[in-house]
Amino acid sequence: MLISIRNETAADIPAINDVIRQAMRVLAQATGTEAAIVERLRAAGALSLSLVAEKKGEVVGHLAASPGLVGDQEGWGLIGPVGVVPPLHGQGIGSALMKEALSRLRETHRGAALVGDPGYYTRFGFRAFPGLHVTGCPPEVVLALPFDGSEPEGELIHHPAFGLDQQA
Ligand SMILES: CC(C)(COP(=O)(O)OP(=O)(O)OC[C@H]1O[C@@H](n2cnc3c(N)ncnc32)[C@H](O)[C@@H]1OP(=O)(O)O)[C@@H](O)C(=O)NCCC(=O)NCCS
Repeated sequence: MLISIRNETAADIPAINDVIRQAMRVLAQATGTEAAIVERLRAAGALSLSLVAEKKGEVVGHLAASPGLVGDQEGWGLIGPVGVVPPLHGQGIGSALMKEALSRLRETHRGAALVGDPGYYTRFGFRAFPGLHVTGCPPEVVLALPFDGSEPEGELIHHPAFGLDQQA
């Protein structure tokens, strides 16, 4: 199966929203607001990455990243949401999106961070850290991958587009 990973274009936006909605339907913790979060990040100029996975000219996966703070420390690429259309799960598309995102963030960021299932994200090198947290989230789902070997410590603060009650 030939999959290409590339930056979004304006023409992809409706398909991206559709992919996110389809993907999140199978995620129990999804809020249904994930496509709107990506729209708000885009409108705020805060999409550090918006990668699409394309198969036969169709957008079948998407990954967003935005600027995150750990405590008052800048330079963290906050990954998410990530989604692949359910019929194509398990074919390596999510991994291809993650690998491309990490390779790009590595050039310009001190590390990547996310809130997600450790069962999935540890395969990319993410792990929980004792001092890293997000208010209201179980600590085991707050994960980071420092590129410089440092220990992230503090609240992982999302962009306001996520609508979380966090203080930068
Ligand atoms: C998570 C997701 C993006 C992965 O995409 P994908 O293309 O299916 O991923 P890959 O094919 O690269 O990897 C599939 C592997 O991940 C595993 N996996 C997927 N989700 C997992 C999870 N939540 N916990 C543990 N393992 C998981 C699969 O079992 C499979 O394992 P295997 O390689 O041992 O067979 C996709 O399943 C998805 O869109 N899920 C719904 C939305 C979601 O959960 N997004 C993440 C939070 S925003």
